Amino acid sequence: MNNMLNQLLADLNVLYRKLQNYHWNIKGKEFFVLHPKLEEYYDDVNKQIDEIAELILTIGGEPLGKLDDYLKISKIQEAENVKVCCDTVIKEVAKDFDYIVKQVIEIKKQADNNEQYVVSTLMDELIGDYSKNLWMLKQSMQ
Ligand SMILES: [Fe+2]
Repeated sequence: MNNMLNQLLADLNVLYRKLQNYHWNIKGKEFFVLHPKLEEYYDDVNKQIDEIAELILTIGGEPLGKLDDYLKISKIQEAENVKVCCDTVIKEVAKDFDYIVKQVIEIKKQADNNEQYVVSTLMDELIGDYSKNLWMLKQSMQ
């Protein structure tokens, strides 16, 4: 369980950096919508990072705290330091959110099997938030 939660912690840290990189480098017609939306996303991710780390501590584990650790294990691919168009950002963020929600569902399943309801409860929140964000992103891609 701790390994899965540290994996999520690493993924969220890299996702945070990626979302803010996009916030800085996004260009195109939907700039005025997506620039603040990306800030909303990374502010949420920042809160989730703290919640996951403190959840790991709550269940007696040790949260990874180094960027080096996160980059080694994260499955989220960082964004480059280049200007990026709105369509690419939406597609890429939807792909990453989809990966995160699948990871979170796996953690919830395992937590329920082990009767670790404190873990399961937080995962429920994340499943709800990411599923809603994904629905909205998909709507905007049509
Ligand atoms: Fe900003």
